[in-house]
Amino acid sequence: MKLLLLLGYGVLPSVAQSTPPRTVPQGLASDITTYLATSAGSQTTLSKQFMFANINVPGAANGTVIAAQSYTAPNYAYNWVRDASLTMDVVQQLYAAATLQTAKNNYSSMLFAYANARVTEQNDPNLQTGLGEPKFNLDNSVFTGPWGRPQNDGPATAAITLMEFATTYIKYGGSEDDINKSIYLGPVKTDLLFVAANWSSPSFDIWEEESSTHFYNHLVSHKALSMGASFAATMGDSETSTTLSAAASAVAQTLPSFWDESRAIIDFQIGPVQKDKTSYQDIAVILGIIHGYNNDGIYSYSNDQVLSTAYHLCLSFQQTYPIATSQTVDNNGGALGIPIGRYPEDVYNGDGTSPNGGNPWFLATAAMAELFYRAASEINDAKTLTVTNTSLAFYNYFAPNANLTVTQYASSTANFVTAVASLEGWGDAFMRLIKFHGGQSGHLSEEYDRNTGYETGAADLTWSYASVLTAALARAELSGNSSYAGALANLGFS
Ligand SMILES: *[C@@H]1O[C@H](CO)[C@@H](O)[C@H](O)[C@H]1NC(C)=O
Ligand SMILES: *[C@@H]1O[C@H](CO)[C@@H](O)[C@H](O)[C@H]1NC(C)=O
Ligand SMILES: *[C@@H]1O[C@H](CO)[C@@H](O)[C@H](O)[C@H]1NC(C)=O
Ligand SMILES: *[C@@H]1O[C@H](CO)[C@@H](O)[C@H](O)[C@H]1NC(C)=O
Ligand SMILES: *[C@@H]1O[C@H](CO)[C@@H](O)[C@H](O)[C@H]1NC(C)=O
Ligand SMILES: *[C@@H]1O[C@H](CO)[C@@H](O)[C@H](O)[C@H]1NC(C)=O
Ligand SMILES: *[C@@H]1O[C@H](CO)[C@@H](O)[C@H](O)[C@H]1NC(C)=O
Repeated sequence: MKLLLLLGYGVLPSVAQSTPPRTVPQGLASDITTYLATSAGSQTTLSKQFMFANINVPGAANGTVIAAQSYTAPNYAYNWVRDASLTMDVVQQLYAAATLQTAKNNYSSMLFAYANARVTEQNDPNLQTGLGEPKFNLDNSVFTGPWGRPQNDGPATAAITLMEFATTYIKYGGSEDDINKSIYLGPVKTDLLFVAANWSSPSFDIWEEESSTHFYNHLVSHKALSMGASFAATMGDSETSTTLSAAASAVAQTLPSFWDESRAIIDFQIGPVQKDKTSYQDIAVILGIIHGYNNDGIYSYSNDQVLSTAYHLCLSFQQTYPIATSQTVDNNGGALGIPIGRYPEDVYNGDGTSPNGGNPWFLATAAMAELFYRAASEINDAKTLTVTNTSLAFYNYFAPNANLTVTQYASSTANFVTAVASLEGWGDAFMRLIKFHGGQSGHLSEEYDRNTGYETGAADLTWSYASVLTAALARAELSGNSSYAGALANLGFS
């Protein structure tokens, strides 16, 4: 979150080389099923409770989300557009899953309040860079101090969250007129037209550090614009629909240019090296897939370039963090996945910077788990596993027992079954890191220390909880548990 501006040019890129796999876990594990159950005291139950404790905190404007109730060292007591949109996205997923009317009503009024709060932000008289203004005070007036502006992913993810909600609301028989007025003609159309006009402009990244051309921003813009084209049409606004549809196609055409054949990764940005990020690797690419995949086959979870990126990121973090080699199993011998942070060169330690100060983050670790769960689901649904020369290294590392080569495997083959079980096992191994390093009573801060594994950084980071919940929902979907999401959504209501 902390703003840093350090520029460095001209260092040669590097990509970590393969090391032998540290573990070969198979299938979803019962300890993680228990950890993520919807029973009292589970991590999921507590994550939900702690996430909601950061929505509408006392004294804050209705519909806002505090990034963390951390007022000093670091001060995260602001309503960030990005964090709020990702948190409210969990709320809309709970709205969609809830079966109790009391729960549904609670979530929907929270989401309408969020839409109103977004309108307030858009109309603030002191915006400095338009709708890409990243951060607001808790009374929802704009933060006017020096900061990395604009951050143009915010309008896209805010619109995605509200369009998902609107679509479900109408599906459940809610008034189309209410959605038209409060959601579409409220904040969504304005944000979408901004994205259509500004998706190609330079923007700061999700870590608020570098102004450049970012894969994350492009992918979430693409999803917002594609969804927006249909949504605008549903709202009877064909002119806007046409504008959004054209912009969506234009963004889609730029996406292949992020693929970096020599490093075999999707570069997180296109542009000169900044902040010594010579590896061109950043978990922002994986977060982009999770927040920006539009279910249209364009950069899906099991895409070979995405998997290759995940593989190289994992290898780099394996070499970056001392705990990756000193703590490979938990107290019961359960395999711990590779600790995942923002990027290998990170020096932000949760409050300031220090040499080799960057730590693994809970939200980054949960995102890697979620990618593995979603990739496994996608492969199951396709009933075919296609291995290309681009994804082969990923599968050889994470699924060595599947004996894969560059070909296609039907779901009836042992290779297919073993490969999917390996992805499941690794997804759980990443979640087990959160279980092992997470704090007492389910509290999750931003980071866990690269040397000791102890929690560090802002306490009770809202996004940490949101990321555990979306990973848990993805895992339940993978396991075929269709009652899980509803049970989670109904918790606390009767
Ligand atoms: C939703 O439920 C929570 C927890 O019971 C409660 O604090 C909050 O006031 C409710 N909000 C609305 C809008 O109903
Ligand atoms: C917040 O806004 C929602 C939706 O408009 C409304 O139902 C709720 O009562 C408001 N809460 C407060 C405390 O004003
Ligand atoms: C967004 O696009 C509009 C229209 O092209 C332009 O005037 C504005 O400067 C852009 N804003 C940003 C933040 O890029
Ligand atoms: C939404 O409102 C606009 C402006 O009043 C109107 O033209 C349009 O038909 C409405 N759409 C729906 C679906 O109600
Ligand atoms: C993979 O195959 C493609 C298409 O045949 C080829 O262009 C590329 O160089 C190959 N990459 C590797 C790493 O072998
Ligand atoms: C992979 O090869 C080993 C050694 O030949 C064999 O024991 C194992 O059954 C194979 N696995 C699959 C999934 O074919
Ligand atoms: C599915 O999830 C629900 C809610 O957590 C749980 O009660 C149930 O036992 C789960 N089913 C299976 C087969 O794990």
